[in-house]
Amino acid sequence: MSDEPIIYINGDYLPLSQARVSPVDQGFLLGDGVFDVVSAWKGNIFKLDAHLDRFFDSIQAARLNHDMSRDAWKEAIIETTRRNGLDDASIRFIVTRGEPKGVVADPRDFKPTCIVWVAPYIFLADEEKRRNGIRLMISATRGFPADTLDPRYKCLDRLHSQLIRLEALEAGYDDALWLDHSGHVSESAASNLFIVKNGVLYTPSAGILRGITRDTILELATELDIPWKERQLSAFDVYIADEVFTCSTAGGALPVREVAGRTIRGTTPGPITQAIDNAYWAMRETDRYATPL
Ligand SMILES: Cc1ncc(COP(=O)(O)O)c(C=O)c1O
Repeated sequence: MSDEPIIYINGDYLPLSQARVSPVDQGFLLGDGVFDVVSAWKGNIFKLDAHLDRFFDSIQAARLNHDMSRDAWKEAIIETTRRNGLDDASIRFIVTRGEPKGVVADPRDFKPTCIVWVAPYIFLADEEKRRNGIRLMISATRGFPADTLDPRYKCLDRLHSQLIRLEALEAGYDDALWLDHSGHVSESAASNLFIVKNGVLYTPSAGILRGITRDTILELATELDIPWKERQLSAFDVYIADEVFTCSTAGGALPVREVAGRTIRGTTPGPITQAIDNAYWAMRETDRYATPL
């Protein structure tokens, strides 16, 4: 096994230093591509089918249809992870519109680039923050309106979320929530949001990426008899919540202890956050949604 990470690119498994994307690849030039991120824990990939469903929805909506079948993607994802020898891994798979065939880039005439990149499992926050909670700001920058770029596209164009993260980090926060154009809270750069109020779990209903972890949490809440609702939330709802947490493939439920200067009143992590996070990690150790490596 090579010491270097192995990348899958257009049918080849190559050491990172040998993998090349053209400087005129439309993904690089225009952010014209889509991706997804799944993770492996203790040798099992979690909910690979759900991630592939979302990836193929992004491909379909972005008109990036190409020759690689769902089974071929599955095989490339498993094989790249195996070749990297990682039991705990973050696995990113990407398709871009690739290199234009002609001199003038015509989006109908392209050769797609397909990549699988595997890294050691990434937690969005360090251990202290996973235990004691993160601090969120509310960004002044809004997400794209759905009629410009529906947030359900998991697309490469992430400049706005990078700017929002920079704004948060430079203001001394760990991450930022952004609002949609009607002033409702949507999500953060790479996570969905939940709040708990009077024993009920709430999460924004629209204007978000449909997170696989979010879906898993709703599924677990049902199993744990925790009542939940999807609805529009304002920043005020978040300020007065008993518990707040974000969630993503990069670490499950992450408690939040402060939002825009307001200390969350309940304990951090709160009992429902804790119950959900425990159930999430327990589920990952079962074979229920596991694809073994
Ligand atoms: C904008 C955004 N929202 C939410 C999420 C969480 O999605 P998932 O739970 O599928 O990782 C992500 C993940 O990268 C994201 O980029």
